Amino acid sequence: MFEARDIKTGDKTEFYRELAQQLEALLHGEPDPIANAANTAALLFQTMPELNWAGFYLMRDGELVLGPFQGRPACVRIAVGVGVCGTAVARRASVLVEDVHAFPGHIACDAASRSELVVPLIAAGEVIGVIDLDSPSVARFDEADQRGIERVAAIYLAACAQAPAPVLARAS
Ligand code: SME
Repeated sequence: MFEARDIKTGDKTEFYRELAQQLEALLHGEPDPIANAANTAALLFQTMPELNWAGFYLMRDGELVLGPFQGRPACVRIAVGVGVCGTAVARRASVLVEDVHAFPGHIACDAASRSELVVPLIAAGEVIGVIDLDSPSVARFDEADQRGIERVAAIYLAACAQAPAPVLARAS
């Protein structure tokens, strides 16, 4: 049985090294994209301090639809180019928001959210979804967090890439 270990370190490089190791072990040998998203969201929410939401939005028919997550119930559909998540899809790049109140078009799913990090999931050149993290603290995320979560996205995509093509197609 996999047991998530608390990561007790103030050093973000070390934190993300250990998080990556745990995630690789957790997803090892499992290609199912929904199961892997659910476990990834749970691991992020359990190990990362100062989060109020961690989860996935997945592309369905050209828009983002809510996927596995931890935190309060959230808005279900987000158009490309809208909000922080839709902006990450449109830019095909991570978006780091120090203060969501200063981000035009931010979609408030939880009034407690003050900063946000969204990392796109890009498989075979296509954005298939995003990982979204919210924090109740202003400027909770920095470039080290962005790099760390981009590594998390890469581990997730690599695990799911073992899936036969139809399974990945259904997830996108
Ligand atoms: N704040 C996001 C919406 C998703 S929730 O944070 C879970 C956005 O602006 O896209």
